[in-house]
Amino acid sequence: MNEKRRVPIFWGCVATLVVVYIVFKFIAPIISMWIVGKSVPLPLPNALIMIYMILAIVGVAIFISTSEDKMEEFLQPILGFFRGGQSGILGMLRMGALAAVPVLIGWMVYSSTAPSVKPLTAIRVQHPTIPGKFEKMVNPLRDPSDERVQKWVAETGFQGAGPQAKTAFVDAMIAEGRGLFQVNCRPCHGSRANGNGPMSWGLRLRPADFTDPGTIATVVEPYLFWRITEGAFGLPQESTPWDSAMPAWGDEFSEEDKWKIIMADYDLSGAEPRMPEKIH
Ligand code: HEC
Repeated sequence: MNEKRRVPIFWGCVATLVVVYIVFKFIAPIISMWIVGKSVPLPLPNALIMIYMILAIVGVAIFISTSEDKMEEFLQPILGFFRGGQSGILGMLRMGALAAVPVLIGWMVYSSTAPSVKPLTAIRVQHPTIPGKFEKMVNPLRDPSDERVQKWVAETGFQGAGPQAKTAFVDAMIAEGRGLFQVNCRPCHGSRANGNGPMSWGLRLRPADFTDPGTIATVVEPYLFWRITEGAFGLPQESTPWDSAMPAWGDEFSEEDKWKIIMADYDLSGAEPRMPEKIH
């Protein structure tokens, strides 16, 4: 054994591993940044660092085991640590380390045997309760006021009056809604609102098929207003919001445009909205 060695072999090994880690974790990314001329460090993947660390540990282990002396000197501080009494800070550390061993083994056994995935058969609630602030909304375009129809007649120069103008107005609103639907909703819900848009094939939770009697035909119009405004983000937990790709359109459309789209949804799918219950 080299008598002049200043650093005890145990701490030398620890320091070597720390240095190796620092090199791969922090210095290598900076060197690669210089080599490839990027402006940010290029970190190594953790899995790769792990492999390098294992190799470093194997290297250190080989070095220690090359002679009995080295082995003895290496083990000395470890055995010394575990062979003392129970008092003082060192004693507490010793007890802590000894207690950690069974805890660690227990944790390893637990984490390798405990099921880590949730059951796949959670039932998703497709139509949760509509939030109160949307509940009382009324679609102003389905039975438009005379003022609204007159405004439209003035804008478009429609020839005709009374019920004729009203019908023409509603048809025009649906036509505008269809246009907005084809631009914004078609990618997922499909041009015929049957949930088969080109993007739908990439979604695990398929976009609602409005021609299915179980979707928009079972809800009131304000329900759609809510879903269009708040999308997946507005859904409560039982509807597993994060499974849904339905965007929240927020203020993307004016209120009236949303009602137009809603009318187009029903028109395209041939369904009728559920009528709100009247409370007398
Ligand atoms: C990125 C794809 C995507 C786009 C774009 C999209 N949706 Fe959806 N939508 C979904 C998915 C997925 C669902 C089913 C899950 C859910 O209820 O959130 C859904 C559900 C809905 C529902 C609920 C139907 C029901 O019966 O529960 C309505 C209403 C709706 N979408 C309307 C629209 C409208 C209107 C547009 C266009 C303004 C639109 N969506 C655009 C993906 C989309």
